[in-house]
Amino acid sequence: MQKDTDTRGRIHRVLSSSVIAGVVPCLLLLAVDRAAYAQSDAEPPDVVSGSCLAAGCHSDLSRGKVVHEVVAEESCDVCHENSANEHRFEMMDPIGDVCLACHDDPADLGGYVHGPVAEGRCTACHDPHRSEHASLLREESPALCWQCHGRPQDRGDGRRAVLNIKKVLDEAEVVHEAVDYGCDSCHGAHASDSERLFNDTYPARAYAEGYEGAYELCFQCHEESEVLGEDASSTGFRDLETNLHRVHVAREKSRRCTFCHSPHGGGPHLTRKTVPFGKWDLPIGFTVTETGGTCTTACHEVRGYQKEIPEEALPDSPERSGK
Ligand code: HEC
Ligand code: HEC
Ligand code: HEC
Ligand code: HEC
Ligand code: HEC
Ligand code: HEC
Ligand code: HEC
Repeated sequence: MQKDTDTRGRIHRVLSSSVIAGVVPCLLLLAVDRAAYAQSDAEPPDVVSGSCLAAGCHSDLSRGKVVHEVVAEESCDVCHENSANEHRFEMMDPIGDVCLACHDDPADLGGYVHGPVAEGRCTACHDPHRSEHASLLREESPALCWQCHGRPQDRGDGRRAVLNIKKVLDEAEVVHEAVDYGCDSCHGAHASDSERLFNDTYPARAYAEGYEGAYELCFQCHEESEVLGEDASSTGFRDLETNLHRVHVAREKSRRCTFCHSPHGGGPHLTRKTVPFGKWDLPIGFTVTETGGTCTTACHEVRGYQKEIPEEALPDSPERSGK
């Protein structure tokens, strides 16, 4: 907090003095000496603000679809130490503190703060000067996220590492199309009220208490009525007239979607290979059949489902498999 106020104060002082102390000498020096610097080994000009962009030395910093307003205004020294002759563009405070002097702390967006945000590593994702992407991002997701989630990430508290999501996608038979819309269609990048940084409701545990309002994360894109509707014909996960999504999900002890589905990529219909059961990961053994599918789980004996009665089996009443 103290640091914050200090930085804010310094920024105001710098801003008010920069016009006189920065711009004027900058312009003069550049006008007189710039050609000479270009041809010699001499030190660059003794300024960090003013016409640094226009003069050409750092004009690349203002080229891009999005230019940080403070850079466009050439207020270089709101962030950089005006390191006089050294001209080294050192930060006047740790990066995170500098950003928070002007921006609301994105960590306030929720009780769970994303590791790099908590550490003030804003520039892991944002270019401080300019960018080709909205919000000054260095890349769009998922590329933005692969910098770190292309390998396991340590939570720093002894629990299992955060999965390598790139590997999950590379190895998946089916990739969830939601990923094409960007990782931020489900996760916030800064902070959230859920540990997994969800941007809408989703249960934190394998079993949720009740289901109403619990799965808004998924129902941003999927029709709730198609997955959980009374009318079984809207879902493929049905046994004739019975909506098996309802059987598993629409109950007091609700099995959350990721009990069976992998949210990023998995087997057919995004099914998972295993289901967490106490301390163990037990195989689901989901197999697609001609008429539906079968599962071998620890939850119940081998069960199959059949979407409709095959024509050849009509009009005789068929023996339904696995029931
Ligand atoms: C919003 C804060 C901010 C402003 C304003 C800003 N910079 Fe930077 N600049 C940074 C950060 C952060 C770095 C990276 C420092 C690091 O990684 O240690 C950086 C790095 C640099 C570098 C090193 C090379 C590079 O591109 O990374 C140069 C040169 C530079 N800035 C010049 C400028 C100039 C000239 C201006 C004014 C036109 C300016 N900066 C304005 C934050 C800023
Ligand atoms: C001296 C004040 C100041 C500092 C310091 C500062 N910013 Fe900004 N920033 C602004 C202003 C002004 C805008 C434009 C108005 C807005 O979007 O809030 C802006 C906009 C942004 C945007 C939105 C860009 C867009 O077009 O969507 C991002 C992202 C951002 N800043 C990140 C940072 C980061 C990261 C740092 C630290 C390296 C930082 N800012 C430091 C003043 C500042
Ligand atoms: C893991 C990547 C990541 C980190 C680290 C990160 N951001 Fe962001 N930031 C994003 C993404 C993605 C967006 C655009 C989507 C959004 O607004 O959430 C964004 C948007 C922003 C915006 C624009 C918000 C708006 O409403 O236009 C600001 C300002 C910003 N970030 C500041 C910061 C600051 C300050 C830090 C460091 C404390 C930081 N960010 C760290 C990924 C990140
Ligand atoms: C600079 C490295 C870095 C970048 C870039 C990054 N992350 Fe992370 N992420 C981490 C670290 C470290 C953790 C573990 C600490 C924690 O839980 O925040 C983490 C945790 C997470 C978690 C929570 C996992 C859990 O179970 O606790 C999610 C979700 C996540 N990141 C999503 C993203 C998304 C989406 C992006 C891209 C927009 C992204 N991350 C970019 C470093 C990064
Ligand atoms: C359709 C929504 C959705 C999208 C899109 C999505 N995720 Fe996730 N993500 C989830 C859910 C749900 C979980 C929780 C899974 C669980 O707990 O079993 C999760 C978990 C995670 C975790 C924690 C993994 C762990 O160790 O348990 C990380 C990291 C993560 N996602 C990163 C990403 C990245 C990076 C992207 C973009 C490539 C992305 N996610 C896209 C829904 C999504
Ligand atoms: C950003 C939009 C979006 C979000 C959010 C989203 N999905 Fe999807 N999902 C899609 C799209 C698009 C498809 C491909 C078209 C289709 O099958 O509907 C898809 C397909 C699927 C499939 C595979 C269907 C099949 O038979 O192959 C499953 C299962 C699924 N989503 C589950 C989920 C779950 C569980 C969540 C919440 C954790 C979720 N989705 C959140 C967009 C989304
Ligand atoms: C008990 C396991 C299980 C649970 C829990 C589950 N699903 Fe499914 N889901 C399946 C199976 C199996 C299929 C493939 C059905 C088929 O054969 O076409 C499926 C198919 C889907 C599809 C493709 C369209 C359709 O309805 O056939 C979507 C979308 C979907 N599930 C979303 C969800 C969402 C969202 C949740 C949580 C609210 C959820 N699922 C919970 C097993 C499950």
